[in-house]
Order: sequence, then C-alpha cells, then structure tokens
Amino acid sequence: MTAPAFACPRRKSLVSEIWDFTGPGYRKAAKKFHSLANANGKHVVLTGATSGLGLSSARTLASLGARLTLVVRDAQKARQLEQECLALGAVSVSIILADLTLLADARKVVAELISRDEHIDVLINNAGALFNQRAETSEGIEQSTSLLFLSPVLLMRGLKPLLSRAEEGRVVNVVSGGMYTQRLSMSWLRSGFAHRYDGPAVYAQAKRALAIVTEEWHESWGAEGIFINSMHPGWADTPGVQSALPTFRKITQWILRNSDEGADTINWMALAPEMSGVSGKLFLDRQARTYYLNAKTRERPTDRQALLKYLSEMID
Ligand SMILES: NC(=O)c1ccc[n+]([C@@H]2O[C@H](COP(=O)([O-])OP(=O)(O)OC[C@H]3O[C@@H](n4cnc5c(N)ncnc54)[C@H](OP(=O)(O)O)[C@@H]3O)[C@@H](O)[C@H]2O)c1
Repeated sequence: MTAPAFACPRRKSLVSEIWDFTGPGYRKAAKKFHSLANANGKHVVLTGATSGLGLSSARTLASLGARLTLVVRDAQKARQLEQECLALGAVSVSIILADLTLLADARKVVAELISRDEHIDVLINNAGALFNQRAETSEGIEQSTSLLFLSPVLLMRGLKPLLSRAEEGRVVNVVSGGMYTQRLSMSWLRSGFAHRYDGPAVYAQAKRALAIVTEEWHESWGAEGIFINSMHPGWADTPGVQSALPTFRKITQWILRNSDEGADTINWMALAPEMSGVSGKLFLDRQARTYYLNAKTRERPTDRQALLKYLSEMID
C-alpha cells in the first residue's frame, strides 16, 4: 500500500536530521512545496483545534473549504473558533466538547459521530500536552497515556466505519520527534510510569506507542481503503511548548518554527493527492522519515505484540 515515492530517504547525519526540526529546516524543505490542494468539502475531524498547531490547521483547512468537526475541551474557545472558521470559508463547522484524557469522553465523541452517520474523509489526532507532573485521571489512567495514546487509538478504531465510507479515508496521527529518544518500555507503560516519572520521556513513550500502532495497523486498514500515517511537526513555538518546556524554548527560541510551519505537513497529509494510498509512514515536512535515529531505541517484536495486547486490555 506504500507508494514508492515515499520510500524513506537515505539516513542523514544525526545533526542534520535534528536540524530539520527547526524553522530554518522547514524553510529549506518548503522551497520545494507547492500549494495545498483544495479541500472541496472534505469532512475533517480535528482534535485540539484551539491552540498551536491544531488552531493553525483548523484555520488553513477552513480557508481551503473543508467541512470541519472540531473536538475541543473549551466551550468558549470553541464558539470563537467556529465563527472564525466559517468566516474563513469552511463549508460547515461542528463542535464536539471532550476532555481527551478521559476514555469515556473519547467514546462519547465516537458515539456522537456514529449517530450523525456522516462519512469522515480525514481524522487528525492532534490534541496533546506534555505533563511535567504525574497524575492519574478519574478513570485511574496516567494522563499522558490516555491523552496521547489511548484516546487517539479509540478515536481511530471507533471512527473506522465512517472513515471506510469515504472515497479514501485518512488518519493523521501527530506524534513527536521526542519519541526518537525513547525505546518503548512495556513494563514502564504498564506501571503507569509510577516508579519513575519524567515528563518528556513519558510523553515520548506515549507518542512512540501511537506511532507503533499506526505502523502495525496500516496494512489491514489499507486493505479496507483507509490510509493511516504519523507525522511529527519538528519544534514549533506553540503555547504548549511555551508552558511545558520553558527552558527548552528559551534556549531554542531563535530556531523554532512557527505554528503554521509545524502544521503544514498535517494539512498536506490530509489533502495532498500524492498521499493517496500511502500508509504506515512517519512524515516531517512532507517527506517520509525514519522511525528510529538510533538502533538502540528500536523495540523488540515481542514488545510490539505486548503493546497491542495492552491496548486491547485498555480499550476493548
Ligand atoms: N509544538 C511542538 O513543537 C510539537 C512537537 C512535537 C509534537 N507536538 C504535538 O503537536 C500536537 C499539538 O501541540 P501544540 O504544540 O500545538 O500544543 P498546544 O498549543 O498546547 O495545543 C494543544 C491542543 O490540544 C488540546 N488539548 C490538550 N489537552 C487536551 C485534553 N485533555 N482534551 C482535549 N484537548 C486537549 C489543547 O486544548 P486547549 O486549547 O483547551 O488547551 C489545544 O487545542 C500535540 O499532540 C503535541 O504533542 C508538538
């Protein structure tokens, strides 16, 4: 199901791979970009549309004429955004309120969309946060695990019947270059990261888990005409980075990309004709990238299987 045009490019040096995360990295890549395709009324479900990359994506997709369902947690921000997206040219905008750290809310989103019975062209799992303090939700799940891994997978799986009714359903999972620093640890994930909590590492574990599941499922989903991929946005100067990583932001501020630059590949993956039939890849700046920058972070096949087992225990 993978178009040869998106075979992974040859490995570059580590420094050059990391430099690609930056604003200058984006601008170098963007010299070859062409304009985004028109959305032509495609129905896009986008999570986390009220800030940073998601906000940029909502605005761009609206101006390209998408039909938007925005899954957000803040009703006031949602009202403003709905008006803005309509003014920009969205064919329609519908809002679903959900706190995606809660699996019950993710299930409610699925139930609401299934009851509306409209096909979905693109699901963008973008909502996210990096938590520097460990906390469990009222459902007893460590919050990074539920927000960054279990809820996106629940949305994917629950909305699959609606994605399969599109001419070509697509899923874009927003992960993170941070996952390059981590090898999936099933014992750590299973323990809810309880014995040792390190916000950036836990965040990276959850993103790594989402990327692995996307890779694991892509063949069977592709056989049903749904194409699922991950992307990482590089380093973008968003409110999320400003609040969760103030020191990182202070040091790197001069080379960070802006939200529009970080979100470009999300929108491109949602709409580009070149992405037709492409599945199971990880993208940065409209190019397929390696899943691992260091062989030591490659998980064992048994851990991939253990991850799928854990997933079915948590969400089935
Ligand atoms: N910026 C980067 O450099 C970078 C790098 C790698 C990956 N990412 C990923 O890119 C995505 C967007 O991040 P960002 O940098 O744009 O962050 P951001 O500015 O903080 O935006 C995050 C979005 O997710 C929403 N969200 C957070 N927690 C939620 C919850 N419990 N339920 C529902 N929605 C929730 C936020 O809603 P509110 O507006 O209500 O807070 C907001 O709309 C995330 O998945 C992040 O992990 C970003």
